[in-house]
Amino acid sequence: MYILNSMMHHLLLFSIIIAIAAPLAGSVPTEARGHNPKQVYKTTDKFPLANPGNIPAHDPNIILHNENYYLFKGGINIPIFKSANISGPWEKLGTVLAGDSVIHKGNRSRPWAPTTIEKNGTFYCYYTLSAKGSRNSAIGVATTTALDGSPWTDHGAVINTGQGPGSRKWPYTITNAIDASVIVDQDSGQFYLNYGSFWHDIWQLPLADNLLSVKDATGPGAVQLTFMPDAKTKPEEGVWMSFRDGFYYVWFSHGNCCNFQKGFPKRGKEYSIRVGRSKNVRGPFEDKKGKSLVEGGGTVVCGSNHGVVYAPGGLGILDGKNDSMPDILYYHYLNTSIGFGHKQAQLGWNYLDYEDGWPVPFAGQDPTANVAFVHGPPSWGYIAIIFGMQTFMMMWL
Ligand SMILES: *[C@@H]1O[C@H](CO)[C@@H](O)[C@H](O)[C@H]1NC(C)=O
Ligand SMILES: *[C@@H]1O[C@H](CO)[C@@H](O)[C@H](O)[C@H]1NC(C)=O
Ligand SMILES: *[C@@H]1O[C@H](CO)[C@@H](O)[C@H](O)[C@H]1NC(C)=O
Ligand SMILES: *[C@@H]1O[C@H](CO)[C@@H](O)[C@H](O)[C@H]1NC(C)=O
Ligand SMILES: *[C@@H]1O[C@H](CO)[C@@H](O)[C@H](O)[C@H]1NC(C)=O
Repeated sequence: MYILNSMMHHLLLFSIIIAIAAPLAGSVPTEARGHNPKQVYKTTDKFPLANPGNIPAHDPNIILHNENYYLFKGGINIPIFKSANISGPWEKLGTVLAGDSVIHKGNRSRPWAPTTIEKNGTFYCYYTLSAKGSRNSAIGVATTTALDGSPWTDHGAVINTGQGPGSRKWPYTITNAIDASVIVDQDSGQFYLNYGSFWHDIWQLPLADNLLSVKDATGPGAVQLTFMPDAKTKPEEGVWMSFRDGFYYVWFSHGNCCNFQKGFPKRGKEYSIRVGRSKNVRGPFEDKKGKSLVEGGGTVVCGSNHGVVYAPGGLGILDGKNDSMPDILYYHYLNTSIGFGHKQAQLGWNYLDYEDGWPVPFAGQDPTANVAFVHGPPSWGYIAIIFGMQTFMMMWL
């Protein structure tokens, strides 16, 4: 009896030690600002590998229309591609803008981060003009009635920050007019524009019914969606909003997006994809732990993984229809064996499962295989600890 009790005791102790040690063993120590990329991107298998979209893209945006995927991305005059398969092959259809944007800001021939929506047969493409490190930015919009062939009309700026019409009004005085996305309030049918970046992070305001301007130019009715009050730099941008089962989900990219050839940020400071949710389209939004998104909250849904996918971000959601057509999270990432240049960013995607109402990407291209992501084999550190503990326990017994 004593022996048994004693063994049970040791076993219990053993399990507790293993439980504490295992997660530690899983996290490989990191070299912070290393110039050996291997030390920087050797990361977790907690997130599934990206399914390749088989096209270079930065800040991709995808809509599904008549059973075809249409891809918009940052690039000269905003290129448009089409494919029957989200993994390509992609056919180039042309560009949204015929030439320079009518907005005189940034590089007028090279808008960023397009987002296209459809309303009553018209397509609206919101795009950004800005420059790195500048708050002199604008969100413009162009429209068309057909994605294949019909020309787009550029309507110019919806909002301006820094300089330009309306930019003297709060919150344009403190925010950065980049990275637009749009969400519809399920109850009222009101359309909202979400935008923002490092300067005071992410904001939302109601659009006019024609979707070409804000609803009220004199007082825009803006609310803040995310903020990092305690951080010196506030790297949250690339907002997306989705709706599912009574919740609005606000998604964003957190961290450094670019310029990795010049050196890597400290591990974990590169782009990752984060989320929070609210029953109200206007918030307040909370992450899975209940932390407010305006107090730095945000649950990480996808980060660098497998030493292959680095700095995933610039994301969007394709709303699913049913169990055999689940939501898709698409984004850009840097494939560590392709390269870290801006133009080398790749389109990637994963189907989403929801666990207790929280999105979890899963591996593979089978939409019905939505089992919780299975972790890879234990690392050598883990095995060594188990082995060591067993020897130790046997000696003890
Ligand atoms: C889409 O393309 C991928 C990769 O080429 C392929 O494995 C998959 O079967 C295709 N899906 C469909 C529905 O054609
Ligand atoms: C705008 O960007 C394109 C593509 O990067 C570049 O070729 C062009 O020279 C830029 N134009 C200006 C005015 O900087
Ligand atoms: C939808 O578009 C059609 C055709 O352009 C137009 O006649 C109709 O008024 C529009 N409906 C709404 C609700 O805007
Ligand atoms: C799921 O939705 C898609 C798109 O609407 C449809 O083609 C498919 O038949 C649906 N599948 C099931 C099982 O309902
Ligand atoms: C990364 O790139 C390598 C080399 O081109 C390729 O074999 C691999 O499939 C890619 N992986 C992903 C997740 O893109």
